[in-house]
Amino acid sequence: MTQLVFKNPYRPGAGHMPLHLAGREDDIAKFKALLNQETILSNPLITGLRGVGKTVLLETLKPIAIREGWLWVGGTELSESVSVSEDNLVIRLLADLSIVTSGITQTVVEESAGFSGSQPKNVVWSYNRLMHLYQETPGLHSDKLKAVLEAVAVAVRHLNKKGIVFAYDEAQNLADNASKDRYPMSLLLDVFQSIQRKGVPFMLALTGLPTIQTRLTEARTYTERMFHVIFLDRLSAKETREAIEVPLQLTQCPFPFSEKSINTVCEISGGYPFFIQFICKEAYDTWVQQHENEGELSAIPVEEILRKLDSDFFQGRWGLVTDRQRDVLKVIAQMGINDGEFTVSEIVAASETYLIKPFASSRVSAILTSLTRLGLIFRTRHGKYCFAVPMFGKFVLRHLEDAPDLIW
Ligand SMILES: Nc1ncnc2c1ncn2[C@@H]1O[C@H](COP(=O)(O)OP(=O)(O)OP(=O)(O)O)[C@@H](O)[C@H]1O
Ligand SMILES: [Mg+2]
Repeated sequence: MTQLVFKNPYRPGAGHMPLHLAGREDDIAKFKALLNQETILSNPLITGLRGVGKTVLLETLKPIAIREGWLWVGGTELSESVSVSEDNLVIRLLADLSIVTSGITQTVVEESAGFSGSQPKNVVWSYNRLMHLYQETPGLHSDKLKAVLEAVAVAVRHLNKKGIVFAYDEAQNLADNASKDRYPMSLLLDVFQSIQRKGVPFMLALTGLPTIQTRLTEARTYTERMFHVIFLDRLSAKETREAIEVPLQLTQCPFPFSEKSINTVCEISGGYPFFIQFICKEAYDTWVQQHENEGELSAIPVEEILRKLDSDFFQGRWGLVTDRQRDVLKVIAQMGINDGEFTVSEIVAASETYLIKPFASSRVSAILTSLTRLGLIFRTRHGKYCFAVPMFGKFVLRHLEDAPDLIW
């Protein structure tokens, strides 16, 4: 029996860097162009559906920015707790900033109380110093934060760095909460817009689900001009092929996928990066087992892999929705729009075809709002809706096939 020494080269999983990042050259080039701005007028906003590769792209941009002479701050997720208040946001920003600034020593002349007059002394931009300056500065949160960032900008200039990129993932979690009088998102936007206008080279690089665009515009209308949107789409057939083949080449695996198998992966993954990694990993594992049993490499076991994908990826999300919400999702799925847009009136019209008792539009609107809150769908800028999870409609259709008596 042959003992295989190859490790599975595919990496499905949130934020797991693929061995080869396929098809993102144009997006990387756009980011590099933004780094070359004399004054920062435009900040990158990376958006796209679940699993399309936002986190790994952001991670890829970090060494690029550092090579180009920038410092990189953050890279962490903006959790909902950061959104709770302006104070939480400030703590997050200053804690992240201190990681790069704590290496910066600056000679300052501080007024001292005695007769000895002013003495130059070396200070380190530690978290405590950043926080101290923040607390000592009079005014609103935004005045305080601007004062800290502007002071750090002076120190950074002496380091011969081009500036600092503040990178935050899952930025759709950052939202204002008017009912509680909390405005962390507006604070972040106001501060960066203001310091950038003064020529401070600090750039915001945000990633998030497509809802983020609406959230930003709701907070501040000027964000349309402040951000350059990099929309990550599914990979083309050529790029999907690359995502499948290059990891095998890089690990010098002598057993490539057959032409037929590649076509199958292209088709059932829809070109979505997470699905490509998932399907290839499963196919490869199946193949290794067969090989160990001296078996022949057969075609990709599509049915079994889809079933595993359903239980590992989709089922958890389906488990969050109520029966009433499921009814609406089933109608949307039957409309066959795949990952396209849909409206309340289209769903109402389709329900007349599929249901004995069609939906009222008020009911559909309310359910779409609750599904948006769950992160399953989002409202596009044209006031229509889309699934936030790719190929969710297809999953619902498979689910219907499995349990047709549960439908209506
Ligand atoms: N360009 C790419 N080529 C190959 N694989 C990729 C590519 N982009 C992402 N992947 C793979 O897709 C999966 C999802 O990537 P990632 O977690 O970055 O997506 P995401 O958009 O951040 O998802 P979420 O919205 O859930 O946070 C990972 O397994 C990653 O390795
Ligand atoms: Mg992510």
